[in-house]
Amino acid sequence: MNPEEHASSIAVVDLTALHENLCRVRKRSHCGAILPVIKANAYGHGAVEVARFLSGANFPGAISMFGVAFLEEGMALRKAGITHPILLMTGCPIGQIPEILRYDLTPVLFDLESAVALSRYAEKRGKIVNVHIKFDTGMGRLGLSPTEASSFVEKVVDQQGICVEGILTHFADADLKDLSFARHQLKAINRIWTNLEKGGVKIPYCHIANSAAIMHFSRAHLNLVRPGLMLYGYSPLEVKTRVQLSPVMQVKSRVIALRRVPEGVSISYGRTYVTPKESVIATVSIGYADGYPRLLSNRGVMLAKGNRVPVVGRVCMDMTMLDVSQVPSLRVGDWVTVIGAEKNKAVWADEVASASDTIPYEILCGIGNRVQRVYLHENA
Ligand SMILES: Cc1ncc(COP(=O)(O)O)c(C=O)c1O
Repeated sequence: MNPEEHASSIAVVDLTALHENLCRVRKRSHCGAILPVIKANAYGHGAVEVARFLSGANFPGAISMFGVAFLEEGMALRKAGITHPILLMTGCPIGQIPEILRYDLTPVLFDLESAVALSRYAEKRGKIVNVHIKFDTGMGRLGLSPTEASSFVEKVVDQQGICVEGILTHFADADLKDLSFARHQLKAINRIWTNLEKGGVKIPYCHIANSAAIMHFSRAHLNLVRPGLMLYGYSPLEVKTRVQLSPVMQVKSRVIALRRVPEGVSISYGRTYVTPKESVIATVSIGYADGYPRLLSNRGVMLAKGNRVPVVGRVCMDMTMLDVSQVPSLRVGDWVTVIGAEKNKAVWADEVASASDTIPYEILCGIGNRVQRVYLHENA
């Protein structure tokens, strides 16, 4: 059985587009090290498949390590056979140390208790664990204060069983045109790195650059960059960019009913839409449980046979209704495009995001697991 034949909705992930975006990252980051951020199921694209593709024979030596948020994500990648280093970007909870070692993951550290516990555990087993140390230079989320840098790093470097491979911080607003706060953050992490080096502590990696910085703040690339969104084909910048990116995922949903209804018929919960004239209404099999935001009720647009067609009435948990009066050739069983392009029309995740008052990150990560992922690659 071809699972796609029976799927209600599919997400078509174009690995060739992912390849193109990686090449753009590489070109911009002047061949420094690259850490693709593949947390949250690679922003909805499928972490295992994305990691397999990026770490495969197509890109020898291109990827230095992968970044995930949580232990479970790292374990799933290891179980799927991914052998690249994996950075656990949200820390090193003491209770997870046995798994972190067992699965050969690289934790980010920002407190001494975890560092000491990790060191003891690793030393007892005769192992050495690479770690990266995180500083909060202005994001206000995770990390040590820069004022604690020297004393903390010196204490960690002295621990047995631990090797400090990197230091990092995270930008709060590098997506803005005004990079003044980003410059202040860059200065802070650079100062830490330089002071450590002056004190005789040489740390291989220092990193801060997310997609925004990769795209328009080249001084911040340092010697490793951490692209997320741009790899998946979208720009996080507040202003238009000339950097060409190729969206990687298209979402399609099946038409499960088509009805011609007279004027005055109400559609969906709350009866917020009433047909102003005789209309053809399609019901498609995607709803807010699949990540299609309910905020798109009476606001969203999908593509049917190359036409932009409006969402009418409230988005339901599993279904959404469209006015397809202008598309007489549409049939039950056809696909409509929820995110993507058909002919010369497009509805990409950034449009879906702005229509639902959010960011493309949330739209991509939110595509649920009932939506079957299908992978395309031109050399497949
Ligand atoms: C620590 C860290 N680095 C890098 C990224 C990648 O950011 P972006 O998707 O904006 O490139 C993220 C994403 O949130 C992150 O949390």
